[in-house]
Amino acid sequence: MSDQPSIAAASGYYRRHIFFCLNERANGQACCAQHGAQQAFEHCKARVRELGLAGPGQVRVNKAGCLDRCAGGPVAVVYPEGVWYTYVDTTDIDEIVTQHLRDGVPVERLLLAPDVGR
Ligand code: FES
Repeated sequence: MSDQPSIAAASGYYRRHIFFCLNERANGQACCAQHGAQQAFEHCKARVRELGLAGPGQVRVNKAGCLDRCAGGPVAVVYPEGVWYTYVDTTDIDEIVTQHLRDGVPVERLLLAPDVGR
């Protein structure tokens, strides 16, 4: 008998996981940090905490480096759905938090077009 957990048991530690690209480029090339990504990340973290959504079995908000979709920046991605967003301000973040992270319904108006890359 193995002590290895099953894939099912090892999955879903967080119900939803959002990653914000916070990449900053010193050479003047486009990057998410130029478009308020840090503020959006901090706002998202605070809102998730305020709503009691943070922690195991619930929601995790994480920083990421470049996600290679810079042309649509600032960008964030939510798993397990793998839904990509672009956002403008904290109102957009509030909508992602309540509608998607809490209620499980992606915010269609903020979806990143599938062909947007670096
Ligand atoms: S700098 Fe944000 S995706 Fe590349």
